[in-house]
Amino acid sequence: MRTHYCGELRKEHIGETVTFYGWVDRRRDHGGVIFLDLRDRSGIVQIVSDPQRTPDSYEQANALRNEYVVEITGRVTHRPEESLNPRIPTGEVEIYADKIQLLNAVRKQLPFQVSLADTETVREDLRLKYRYLDLRRERMAQNLQLRHQIVKAMRRYLEDLEGFIEVETPILTRSTPEGARDYVLPSRVNPGEWYALPQSPQLFKQLLMVSGLDRYYQIARCFRDEDLRADRQPEFTQLDMEMSFMSQEEIIELNEKLVCHIFKTVKGIELQRPFPRLTYTQGMERYGSDKPDTRYGLELVDVSDIVKDSSFKVFRDTVNNGGIVKILPIPNGNDVISNVRIKPGGDLFKEASEAGAKGLAYIRVRDDGEIDTIGAIKDNLSVEQKQEILRRTDAKAGHLLLFGAGDAATVNKTLDRLRQAIAKEFELIDPEKINLLWITDFPMFEWNADEKRLEALHHPFTAPHPDDLSDLKIARAQAYDLVLNGVEVGGGSLRIYQREIQQQVFEAIGLSAEEAQSKFGFLLEAFEYGTPPHGGIAYGLDRLVMLLAGEESIRDVIAFPKTQQARCLLTDAPSSVDAKQLKELHVASTYKPKS
Ligand code: AMO
Repeated sequence: MRTHYCGELRKEHIGETVTFYGWVDRRRDHGGVIFLDLRDRSGIVQIVSDPQRTPDSYEQANALRNEYVVEITGRVTHRPEESLNPRIPTGEVEIYADKIQLLNAVRKQLPFQVSLADTETVREDLRLKYRYLDLRRERMAQNLQLRHQIVKAMRRYLEDLEGFIEVETPILTRSTPEGARDYVLPSRVNPGEWYALPQSPQLFKQLLMVSGLDRYYQIARCFRDEDLRADRQPEFTQLDMEMSFMSQEEIIELNEKLVCHIFKTVKGIELQRPFPRLTYTQGMERYGSDKPDTRYGLELVDVSDIVKDSSFKVFRDTVNNGGIVKILPIPNGNDVISNVRIKPGGDLFKEASEAGAKGLAYIRVRDDGEIDTIGAIKDNLSVEQKQEILRRTDAKAGHLLLFGAGDAATVNKTLDRLRQAIAKEFELIDPEKINLLWITDFPMFEWNADEKRLEALHHPFTAPHPDDLSDLKIARAQAYDLVLNGVEVGGGSLRIYQREIQQQVFEAIGLSAEEAQSKFGFLLEAFEYGTPPHGGIAYGLDRLVMLLAGEESIRDVIAFPKTQQARCLLTDAPSSVDAKQLKELHVASTYKPKS
């Protein structure tokens, strides 16, 4: 019978006889005294066995190896002064093992040492293939426990304090347009027809509002077939919420309280409310991003008006053709950032060109206050223009000013990337800071240049701002994103609840009345049966846990994640299926493996 978990044992237990289970984290033989670090999900405790003090367990202790599973009964004792270990919570005690029972041995060579010290350098593909071993590690076990604590705090707050009800929505469903590709599944009993896995429960949660459920939430699995990054998985989890009869302000307030509750419960951190806000336009102007990291400055400065009449053709033409010229001012940038890094072949040039920029002009303010520029700027900006630029960017000796010129989207993307790279390099980011930020007033639509049509920036169920109904194409949306330290952790909106407006939005994104009817007829119809005003939000649970755990990738907070190639290395999914199965599903593959 277990009396304790390994990580729970403390000074208070000295003198008690305890029983616990665990895995051998490490075994050391110090001249005939065997020391075992025994691990379970709660942590590690030190076990001692030698022929004098614990004759009954010595032989067994001697035979144990890493990762063997054992049951141990023993006496909790004070560690001798010289072996106190303040780095672990159990570091003041050790257990004299009176009895060790081997429950299971390891029969194969371990693919990597699980014990803490050795595993930080293990290749990720190996960790994912043997994920069950990887999850034994303290860091990963703690991440899963943190994830659980966060979900628990969400549930407690929403259910107990705000009256939300959890409802499950279907996984086998129709496509929900969240902007990614769908995962589709053939239907055996409906030949030639397909289900789509939900990209989010968006439509069902809106229908639940039509049903009068009033306050819904779900810890919901979502599926999106998109290119993967450190903060994107093909299958991920949302805290998904929807509520009726609430204004945007009320929704934001409730959500701030929820986030404060999570931080307080899980981390003991009191956050200040209300959270700061920026409109989308402000975010773009000041940071070139709709999810700016506001833990550091490096704000962008628009100088289009200064350079538009200059004799520098690139700048002049850019502005006159509707583009912009902006600057990223870098205090003390001169010493560290050489011309080589800014010119073709340099790392910052590469960063900029990956964002679509063609080049990087610059101005350097030398220590004597002289300014130094790249060729074309030197001859083509007047002294007044240069002075005005220095004034507006507040440039001092040592400043490096990097220019972006082109269409607004490319300039912002370029300077946003450079801003982040510089902040990292100059160590401007205080890792202790927790900067939460609402971004509001998104535009309803953005231009999809590939498909030559407008596209809903959030999703097509987001309500336009009531003041902007006269021209939907340039309307602001009643949408809000929550950004934490530069990561979009949540997004939501007030929804359209009137059929006519929904139809206008479908038209704006180029969906014909017939298409709209065939794809979303059920929603349009529901709107005719008494739909309450409603709105909601969804958080990326994995991202939130990643940030609270201090991890760099959401893979480290998901028990069984996929790789960047969307593979599960543990089960080796996806895999081929039998021809018979495909036949039953009325599916044939056109894929021809390369020979
Ligand atoms: P959205 O598409 O913005 O909104 O998603 C909400 C949040 O989910 C997280 N997220 C992801 N996390 C991991 N991997 C992914 N591939 C991924 N994609 C998104 C982000 C994001 O902020 N139905 C709407 C919500 C609403 O309007 O209520 C929706 O899904 O943190």
